[in-house]
Amino acid sequence: MSRRLHVALTVVSLFALACSDRVTAPRVVADAPARVTAPTPVDPSVVTPQLIRQLAAARGIVPIQRPRPVRYALVRLGQALLFDRVLSGNRDIACATCHLPAFATGDGRELSIGQGATGLGPDRRHPDGAFIARNAPPLFNLGAMQHLFWDGRVQLRRDGGVRTPAGKQITPAMQRVFEFGPVSALAMFPVTNRSEMRAGSGNELAAIDDDSLPQIWAALMRRIGAIPEYRAMFEAAYPGTPFRAMTFAHASNAIGGFLVDRLTLLDSPWDRFLAGNDRALTQPQLDGAQSFLTLKCSLCHNGATLSDEQFHDVAVAQFGPGEGDGATTRDDFGRMRVTGRADDRYRFRTTPLRNVELTAPYGHDGAISSLRDFVAHYSESDLKLMAFDGSTLDPDLRATLLPNQEAVLAQRDTLLKGVVLTPELIDRLTTYMQALTDNAARDLTRLVPERVPSRLPVDRPTVVVASH
Ligand code: HEC
Ligand code: HEC
Repeated sequence: MSRRLHVALTVVSLFALACSDRVTAPRVVADAPARVTAPTPVDPSVVTPQLIRQLAAARGIVPIQRPRPVRYALVRLGQALLFDRVLSGNRDIACATCHLPAFATGDGRELSIGQGATGLGPDRRHPDGAFIARNAPPLFNLGAMQHLFWDGRVQLRRDGGVRTPAGKQITPAMQRVFEFGPVSALAMFPVTNRSEMRAGSGNELAAIDDDSLPQIWAALMRRIGAIPEYRAMFEAAYPGTPFRAMTFAHASNAIGGFLVDRLTLLDSPWDRFLAGNDRALTQPQLDGAQSFLTLKCSLCHNGATLSDEQFHDVAVAQFGPGEGDGATTRDDFGRMRVTGRADDRYRFRTTPLRNVELTAPYGHDGAISSLRDFVAHYSESDLKLMAFDGSTLDPDLRATLLPNQEAVLAQRDTLLKGVVLTPELIDRLTTYMQALTDNAARDLTRLVPERVPSRLPVDRPTVVVASH
């Protein structure tokens, strides 16, 4: 069996050299397509750097552009805000409580737990057992992304502005403050969300109507402006603009500036390879790259970030509170929530893959706990979804598994049909993905500030993620 597969794979990779479009893409299955007679530019029995370069280029995989350095005063302000609980209604949670440096800027949980809870990372607990509907994604290289959030609801517009769920409540003047695209706008949203940060009661932000986003933002700026150190930091970050003329867009843009400056990490073996270093990848990593680049993976995970910035259903099981969709109101319809199109139901953004080895658990709800298991999931993903029993989940989530498997499968991307991967291939692909890790992402404790201007406590878990 495995020898026959090996032969099939070799043929498949030859085939892929000649044609890499979606329609004629090679299938990952074991039956060798005997009729294929594509020319061989390079001897494929030895996977060479040259071969990998050709394959990457054919899938539009190019280096991520290094952003210009961001002015220090803005980075410093963004850092303070990201770690400061003052942005939450009851001053009990910061952005970095869910995007923990010790967990590669995620929280190491399937579903995040918002305000009103205690503990960090996997130990976090809410007294009412409340969860956020989705997994907290890492914050790496987001300046290169055009769509943010799992459903892409904060996205780059053609005119360079940012489209968000807030519509016109984000004014043209605020748009002009956003220097880094979608990542500048993102922080406008967690602060307005009652479950994540604002809370249902107990503070002046909670008293404001859900639809009145500008009032929430203004109240936050009053709160921040009451701290003289922050006023000085804002005015240093935006020379020439007095604090009273600023809006929360200035705060959000500063967080974006911090993320772009400090979390654009482009020193993985793969990045060094793309930059021209033929020796950056080990032979097993080159072999893994060949699989990734010739199989269907790179039909979706492509471009500089290894995300096509499109939305697909890859048959990930759903559980937890959901986004209020479907008959049970516990479904999460994903991209359909943004576009309203039935085709987009259960579709989520193709995840960018830098540092993916460090960001378990995986998928929009963290359904799959190890990287190898996520790769293995693509093999007969229909059967995997049907067999998913939630036994690997947080005990509080196990009983919340949704019985929507048929509906999720009905929308599964047709590319996944018939995909079968051998254990050997799963290992090769996993090895490739480990070449996407920048060592600097392994220990990010350097990002945690000593103190924040509000003098509220700074979350400081000491665990550092190990490789999975
Ligand atoms: C309660 C936990 C929690 C808090 C607090 C929180 N986040 Fe998140 N963050 C999440 C979750 C969950 C998602 C995914 C939400 C979705 O896709 O709908 C997310 C998504 C993001 C993303 C998008 C990443 C991507 O790849 O698209 C960014 C950026 C981000 N958060 C930054 C922030 C900032 C800045 C703050 C503070 C203003 C913040 N977060 C507060 C949990 C949290
Ligand atoms: C049809 C497009 C498509 C194909 C083909 C595809 N992926 Fe994905 N990938 C996605 C989408 C979309 C997600 C996010 C899915 C979700 O959360 O529901 C994802 C998620 C992932 C994740 C989890 C990342 C994270 O941080 O949560 C990994 C790892 C991954 N893919 C690797 C692969 C590998 C390896 C292959 C080839 C065997 C592959 N993908 C094939 C679209 C695709």
